[in-house]
Amino acid sequence: MQAAARAYTNIALIKYWGKKDEQLILPMNSSLSLTLNAFYTETRVTLQQSLSCDEIIMDGKVLSGHSAEKIIRFMNQVRDQSGNRTYALIVTNNHVPVASGFASSASGFAALAASAARAYGLDCSGVALSRLARRGSGSASRSIYGGFVKWMKGTKDEDSYAVPIDPANWGIRLVVVAVNRQKKKISSRLGMKRTVQTSPFYPIWMKEAEKDLGRMEQAIHHHDLEMIGEIAEANALKMHATMLAATPPFTYWEEGTLTVMRRAAHLREQGIPCYFTIDAGPNVKLICSVEHVDQILDDLSDFFPLEALITAEPGPGVQFLEDPI
Ligand code: PMV
Repeated sequence: MQAAARAYTNIALIKYWGKKDEQLILPMNSSLSLTLNAFYTETRVTLQQSLSCDEIIMDGKVLSGHSAEKIIRFMNQVRDQSGNRTYALIVTNNHVPVASGFASSASGFAALAASAARAYGLDCSGVALSRLARRGSGSASRSIYGGFVKWMKGTKDEDSYAVPIDPANWGIRLVVVAVNRQKKKISSRLGMKRTVQTSPFYPIWMKEAEKDLGRMEQAIHHHDLEMIGEIAEANALKMHATMLAATPPFTYWEEGTLTVMRRAAHLREQGIPCYFTIDAGPNVKLICSVEHVDQILDDLSDFFPLEALITAEPGPGVQFLEDPI
């Protein structure tokens, strides 16, 4: 009746952008990510007969409002699936480096899916956890596994889940540049919806994303870091282009975002392979090889404070915790 789990965040190299089904969280396109070791969430779910609703403690504070509602909706699905109507005490802690700008629904819902599934006696296989995590947040479906992970879009609830494709233990690194840590004004949910409904570039995005995914799998297979970086950078730019063409248009980029993009181009001119990717926010992640990390940090330190620069390694998949968190 109690279980705890830890899950790490992931960064998409081929982005998920757009839902085919908002309720089930079925994506318009398949995506591919790298799980990181630097940011994780630990969550403990304890069923308690005495509760008349779920109680959520996040980072030491009682959670309320929209974030709590999202978690309660998720827990209702868990109760529906298990047939057990008992409410739970959910204690969750985010381990995010100070100033990283990383607020991750991916690690959060992956850790919640695993701990809730075990506490309520649901199927805890990788496929089942990935499908369940997806219902909380699409990108969470990928945080069930470590290394490079592909989320196959599928056509229905049963076949839309992630699979591991490579452990990524050959020297790839991500330098995270925290440009701005404030909460974004347009949620990814809203951003996706507006893009799908109004952007004339959206149909092109869907075609390009499938092509990029095939090429990315080849690049990963060959451990070709430069190819991985080139495809990831181009894919991120295509996703962001769909937003500029939406009505009303929007972008997550800020001045600092452009600065990092220019530094990546500059570093490449100096012979240092370094490629950017950007999610639905202003922060930038640079894809590089372990041997170039120091040179990249040195360059960026002229523009950003050191605490805004975090180097991440590939991380593991979801883990059940035996000790209390
Ligand atoms: O899973 P969500 O709803 O947080 O959406 C994630 C969207 C992107 O981060 C922009 C892309 C991705 O694949 O993670």
